[in-house]
Amino acid sequence: MTTIGLIGAGNIGQAVARLALDHGYDVVLSNSRGPETLTDVVEGLGDRAVAGTSEEAAARGELVVVTIPLRAYRDVPVEPLAGKVVIDTNNYYPQRDGQIAALDDGSGTSAGLLQEHLAASHVVKAFNHVSSAHLTEHARPTGASDRRALAVAGDDDGAKATVAALIDELGFDVVDVGPLSESWRIEPGTPGYGPRLDTIGLREALAAATRG
Ligand SMILES: NC(=O)c1ccc[n+]([C@@H]2O[C@H](COP(=O)([O-])OP(=O)(O)OC[C@H]3O[C@@H](n4cnc5c(N)ncnc54)[C@H](OP(=O)(O)O)[C@@H]3O)[C@@H](O)[C@H]2O)c1
Repeated sequence: MTTIGLIGAGNIGQAVARLALDHGYDVVLSNSRGPETLTDVVEGLGDRAVAGTSEEAAARGELVVVTIPLRAYRDVPVEPLAGKVVIDTNNYYPQRDGQIAALDDGSGTSAGLLQEHLAASHVVKAFNHVSSAHLTEHARPTGASDRRALAVAGDDDGAKATVAALIDELGFDVVDVGPLSESWRIEPGTPGYGPRLDTIGLREALAAATRG
């Protein structure tokens, strides 16, 4: 894998792009307003960063990160993402995203909604519980004593392994939350959402999470 596509080029999109570039990947960033609005961003990121439309980022990325306000998830292009691993960083904030019944009543998860929309893709929830600033500040090489752990959740074990390997390469240990139906354990308001935890601490936080 050499190219990572990003749908969303805000705080988290740029932080993931920066980490990926630091580790030798090419990145294609996109947003809702069009590539011409990302000129300064890609110039700041360097030669291996380019801007495109969401469709182009989806098509050119061998792995694609969806990192947008959840309310816009139905805008994510479906066809160019078929068969691909898609990382979902999104969180549900009703004050920003509007009320979503399946999340308010606890019958669904935000990542599950994206997976329903991208039925032919392999969605893995990741990078959703770490702030964009900490994503770059807390990255450490394998084996560092203060290495932070990040969670992954997904229904396809192969896709989850791909994302786990990427996260490890970018500087974090990985804890498997389980399928997307369990990803509520790392949504906003849970003990694992936000704090800097190692593998043991994150496992404990996931186990201690309560729904709602
Ligand atoms: N900020 C954090 O520290 C953090 C941490 C973990 C997870 N998250 C979650 O990750 C997601 C992104 O957060 P963020 O802080 O990076 O948001 P942000 O800074 O507001 O950036 C959002 C990006 O998504 C783009 N976008 C919006 N609607 C789009 C659409 N329909 N199609 C394509 N791109 C679209 C925006 O482009 P335009 O500006 O052109 O509209 C912008 O580039 C959110 O769900 C958030 O809850 C955030």
